[in-house]
Amino acid sequence: MINSLELRKKYLEFFGQKGHARIPSAPLVPENDPTVLFITAGMHPLVPYLLGQPHPAGKRLVSVQKCLRTDDIEEVGDATHNTFFEMLGNWSLGDYWKKEALEWSWEFLTSKEWLGLDGARIYVTIFAGDQDAPRDTESLGIWRSLGVPPERIFEYGKDKNWWGPAGETGPCGPDSEMFFETGREHDVKFGEKCHPNCDCGRFVEVWNDVFMQYNKKADGTFEPLKQKNVDTGMGLERMTMILEDKESIYQTDLFISLMEEIKSLSTRYHERSARVIADHLRAAVFLIADGVVPSNVERGYVLRRLIRRAIRYGRTLEIKGRFIGDLALTVVKDYQSLYPQLKAAAEKISRQLTGEEEKFNQTLEGGLKEFEKLAREEGRKKISGGEAFRLYETYGFPFEITQELAKERGLEVDEMGFRESLRKHQELSRAGAVERFRGGLADQSEETTKLHTATHLLQAALREVLGPHVYQKGSNITSERLRFDFSHPQKLTEEELKKVEDLVNQKISQDLVVRREEMTRAEAERLGAIGLFDEKYAAKVSVYLIGPKGAEFSKELCGGPHVDQVGKLGRFKIVKEEAVSAGVRRIKAILE
Ligand code: SER
Repeated sequence: MINSLELRKKYLEFFGQKGHARIPSAPLVPENDPTVLFITAGMHPLVPYLLGQPHPAGKRLVSVQKCLRTDDIEEVGDATHNTFFEMLGNWSLGDYWKKEALEWSWEFLTSKEWLGLDGARIYVTIFAGDQDAPRDTESLGIWRSLGVPPERIFEYGKDKNWWGPAGETGPCGPDSEMFFETGREHDVKFGEKCHPNCDCGRFVEVWNDVFMQYNKKADGTFEPLKQKNVDTGMGLERMTMILEDKESIYQTDLFISLMEEIKSLSTRYHERSARVIADHLRAAVFLIADGVVPSNVERGYVLRRLIRRAIRYGRTLEIKGRFIGDLALTVVKDYQSLYPQLKAAAEKISRQLTGEEEKFNQTLEGGLKEFEKLAREEGRKKISGGEAFRLYETYGFPFEITQELAKERGLEVDEMGFRESLRKHQELSRAGAVERFRGGLADQSEETTKLHTATHLLQAALREVLGPHVYQKGSNITSERLRFDFSHPQKLTEEELKKVEDLVNQKISQDLVVRREEMTRAEAERLGAIGLFDEKYAAKVSVYLIGPKGAEFSKELCGGPHVDQVGKLGRFKIVKEEAVSAGVRRIKAILE
């Protein structure tokens, strides 16, 4: 039996023999490509070369590339879908074309020397043609010459047999895909007739040979590429499943130890949830190793969402206590010989995951209770936009989690309403900020300015002590005191209050410098600045940063004014902590 390690080896060896140079996997985070968040295919790091730039390793390349795709996240848990996966790929940069590509694919799949699959169980598809490009009769002819009978060759349009571009623009073209017939019965719920792209599970797509002859331009038109390329991709997990003759990728050697570990932790096991945890955790480990940090924007948000989903599914398995930080070490163990950087980052990975889990657990408990309360109400059919928003704002539930929980209960969620509440909230906060700004202008006394800077320190301290679910809900400053309202589900303990107060005072005693910088909204987001991202004024925003460059304690969008050194503030003292409304707390504080 060929396992995943041998598959990797054979693939690299086969294409090595055909004159391909081996290139290493690029990191999951694309370098210099603003069009996408993550590497989603092996071709992705090669875009400049597919567009004509010479590659230092030559015109024939082969690799095993780490990829992340979240568009199928709902499908994860079935037999074959993953978010993170590895892709075996070979490329011709203006060198060989369809004949060699398809013949080599066929040889690798069916030759006894290589994978030795039964050719009679392989089905292929080709592009049927449309207004942008003609029917791919060339590939059809090649498959026929290799002995594939017409009844195993299918034709589809752009929705199935076209690949790319990976972002909005870039190289793309028709493709020809190979499917393996598992022998499973066709499930009638997918329609009367089964065919390779039927979703019933009888066929598994194993390889995609893309013939890149076009460049998609920003205006939506396709121009012929100067150089015709071949880009192929084979999902390592799926092919391993076939070679090891398993019913799902989670039973292959790539997942087996992780799945067993999850099983041993569960007190109420079921396979699908365990698969989601295994998939998401593996993705999170590789993302953190490649430098992504959980946050509320862009890549960090995707990572946070994967982690939170894994934790939530852990609850459905009734896993006791914190678990993902330790479980991550199993992933590291499984992959460290192939990806030594995982070993080097093991401690960081585990620590970050545990930190996220602690933060999330704090709010999850309350949020789940709140959700249950809503879901149990008699006659309820729907979660309103406002309710979903409250779960989001107060309990840190990504909207998708509310949606999933609702789906499990057969409830609908008003997504439009949620978006509307979010928008209104942003407007209200903006109004609040404008007020604060005006207040600052009207009263630019030294005392008010100091309290304004103290408010920034307070928000940063609250987020550090309580977690990133803390956001400003309102602020009012006079020359005597500050009043700061923020999202948090429960009363702060004496200990938490003391920690917050001490942290602010510690920063004051370090006499950190306050800087103001103007930047684009995207830059501010990338920097992790908190505050109100006003889409209307996208050009430039003003950000106040407190602390040394690159290691700021507070980064907040704000109009000012502020003091230039926090040492001027004196002693910070919290005088009151109380509730404003459900999920919103208020702190009053003074400077002595
Ligand atoms: N880019 C194609 C895919 O991802 C082939 O590598 O399927």
